[in-house]
Amino acid sequence: MIRCWRLDDGRQTLVLGSHRDHLAEVIYWGPRLADGEDLETLLAAHTIDVTGGMLDQNPELSICPEATRSFPGQPGLIVHDGDGTPVVPRFGFAGARQGDGTLELDYTDQAGVLSYTASFAIDGETHVIEAQATLQATRPMHLHWLSAPVLPGPQHSDEMVDFAGRWCGEFQMNRTPWSPGIRCRENLTGRTGHEHFPGLIVPCRGATNTAGQAFAFHYGWSGGHRMVAEELPDGRRQIQFGHAAGTDASPRRRFETATLYAVFSDDGLNGCAVAFQRHLRDRVVRLPDPGRPRPVHYNCWEAVYFDHKLPELKDIAGRAAALGAERFVLDDGWFGTRDDDTSSLSDWQVDPRKYPDGLTPLITHVHGLGMSFGIWFEPEMINRDSNVFRANPGWALGGEDQILGRQQMALDMALPEVRDFLFDRIGAVLRDNAVDYVKWDHNRVLPMPDAAQTRGCYALIDRLRAAFAHVEIESCASGGGRIDFGILSRSHRVWLSDSNDALERLKMQHNAAIFLPACVTGSHVGPRHCHTSGRVLDIRFRAWVAAQRHLGFEMDPRELTDDEAQVLKQVTAWWKANRHWMMGADILRLDSSDPAVIAEQQLARGGERFVVFAGKAASSAQIAPRPLRLARLSPDARYRVELVNRDEAPGLSRGAPALVSGPVELGGEYLMSHGLTLPWSFPETMWVVEGTMV
Ligand code: DGJ
Repeated sequence: MIRCWRLDDGRQTLVLGSHRDHLAEVIYWGPRLADGEDLETLLAAHTIDVTGGMLDQNPELSICPEATRSFPGQPGLIVHDGDGTPVVPRFGFAGARQGDGTLELDYTDQAGVLSYTASFAIDGETHVIEAQATLQATRPMHLHWLSAPVLPGPQHSDEMVDFAGRWCGEFQMNRTPWSPGIRCRENLTGRTGHEHFPGLIVPCRGATNTAGQAFAFHYGWSGGHRMVAEELPDGRRQIQFGHAAGTDASPRRRFETATLYAVFSDDGLNGCAVAFQRHLRDRVVRLPDPGRPRPVHYNCWEAVYFDHKLPELKDIAGRAAALGAERFVLDDGWFGTRDDDTSSLSDWQVDPRKYPDGLTPLITHVHGLGMSFGIWFEPEMINRDSNVFRANPGWALGGEDQILGRQQMALDMALPEVRDFLFDRIGAVLRDNAVDYVKWDHNRVLPMPDAAQTRGCYALIDRLRAAFAHVEIESCASGGGRIDFGILSRSHRVWLSDSNDALERLKMQHNAAIFLPACVTGSHVGPRHCHTSGRVLDIRFRAWVAAQRHLGFEMDPRELTDDEAQVLKQVTAWWKANRHWMMGADILRLDSSDPAVIAEQQLARGGERFVVFAGKAASSAQIAPRPLRLARLSPDARYRVELVNRDEAPGLSRGAPALVSGPVELGGEYLMSHGLTLPWSFPETMWVVEGTMV
C-alpha cells in the first residue's frame, strides 16, 4: 500500500511517502509545491533507476534506514538486547496522526519488541521544522545509536559547512566537499562543547549569505551529538543527527532523540539564520519577563577574578552604573574559601572572610545604584578540596584516577541526592538574597560522555526555574562550551566566549548569528589590554562590537580614561535607545565584497529601520573601501541613511564620501545592488550606519 503525507509553510514543503508499510522516506524537501501536487506521482517520480552491479531495487533512504533492508549506508538505529545480542528490526507501519503542521508516524517491528515513532512539526511563521524520534522496547535494551528522523541532503550542493572551535575561538566554520562516504562529527566530551557546535549548513551551488538555496540543521542537545552526512554509492545523500553514540550506559525501555531543527531557505544562508534566530527567540527561549528590556550587564570577572573586596566591588559597581550598567553580576570567588580555582566548588555558601555580613551589603549597594544583582554558580562541579567532597566522595562522576579539568571533577547528576543537595544549596542563596540572574558555568569536559548527566542537569535547572521563576539563567561553559537549543529552552542568554577581544568577537558573533539572535548573545566590553589575546584595542571598537549583541562591560572601570568612559557612555546610551527594536531584529550577514570587512545588517521585524555594523577586521588589499551591499530592503522604498559614528573617521580619511557630511537619502534597490560607500578607516574599527525607511 502507498501512503504519502505533506507538511507546508509559506515557503517550503516536506513530502514523505512509503510503499508496502515500510518506513517512510522524505521524497521532497524544498520550495513550496502547488496545493494540487499529486503525492503518489511524486513518490513514483522519486524512484531512481537500477543498473549493472546493483541490487534489483534501491533500498529506501528512510527516516530511519534499516540494516535489514540492504541499505548501503549508515543505519538510523543500532540497538542490542539486554544480553548484548544485536537487534535488527524490520519496521512496519502502525499508524499516522496528522494535525495542523504536524505529523506523527508509528511503526512496530515484526518481532513485536520495538516500536518507533517519528514526529515532525513545521512552524508557519519561523519556517523551522522540528523533528524527533522515539524508540520503545518491551524489555530493557542497550542503545548505541538512534538518529532523529533522517532528512535527505540536497544533490545540487558541492559542500557542507559545519562548526569547530576552541576556548576563546568559538564558531569556526569548516567547509568539506561532498564525496562518497561519510563526514562524521562525533562529540564525546559530554557537553555541547567549543569543539563541536551541533550545526550543519548545506548550501546549494552558488548560495551566498544573501541569495540562493540552503538547508541547515541544529541538534538541540547539551550532552554531545553525532552527525553523519553521507553520500551513498548511488549518489543519494543523508543527514543524521542524534546523541553521541553509546551515551546511554544502562539498558532502558524508552529512548528519545533531542529535537532536530531543520530549515530550508531560498534566500541564502540568511534565510536559515533568520529562521533559527526567530525560532530560538520566539519559540524556544522563555524569558521570565519578556516585556523587560534586556539590561546592560556589568560582570566583575576580568576586573577582580577571585580577589573579592567589598569596598572595591562597591566602587566598581558605582562606576559601572554611571556608565549605564543595569545588572551587576558577581562572578566566581564569593563562596567556600575560593581564592583561586583549586578549591571549594560545591561549597555554595558565602565566604565569611570576604563577606562577613553575607551578600546583603553588596546587593543593597547595587540596588541603590539602580541595578539588579546576578551571581555565578558552577553547579555540576566539585573540587576534591571542598567540604562537600570530603563528606561525599561518592558523588563525583568517574574514577578516582581520572584526569582533572581545571582541578575539578563533575558531580554525578544522575544521582537524585546530588540534585536535591544542589537544589537546596542554590535555592538557599536565591531565597536569601535578591538575585534575578544566575550565570551557570561548566568548566570541564566529562570523564566520559553520559546522557544521564545531561538529563540530570536539565532536571535540576527545570526544578530551580519552577521554584524561582523570576530568575534568568545564562549558559556558560568556559565561554561558549554549552550553546544549543536544548540548554536555551531552559536558559536565557549564552556567554559566547571567554574572549573579550573585540576582533575575535566580531568574527565569532558573525558566524554564531546563523543560529543565535542578538537578545541571547552576551557580548561585553573588555579591558583595554585584552586578557586572553594580549591585543590592545580602542574603546570605540570594543564598545561597538559589544553593542551588536546583548551589551555588557567586563573591564575594571577604574582603568578607563575620561575619554574612554565618555565613549562607553555614549555607545551604551545609543544601545539603550535602540534595544527595543534591535533585540527583536533579524541579523543579516552581508556579502562583503572586501574580505577585510565583516559586516552585518540588523533589520527591524517590520523592515522600517536597520543598522549596519561594518567591522574592519584587517587592512584591505585595495586602497578605497568597496561599496557594501545591503539586504532584504524594499527595492522601491527610500531610506534615510546616516553614519552614526562619523566623528570617528581618522585623519587619513580626507575625501568627501557623502556619508561623512550627514544623512543621505537612497533607494532600496541602489543600496542592495550598488551598496553603501563608506569612508576609509583603520583596521580594528567599526562603522555604524543607521537607516530609516522614509
Ligand atoms: C569561565 C567563564 O567563562 C568566565 O566568564 C568566568 O565565569 C570563569 N569561568 C570563572 O571561573
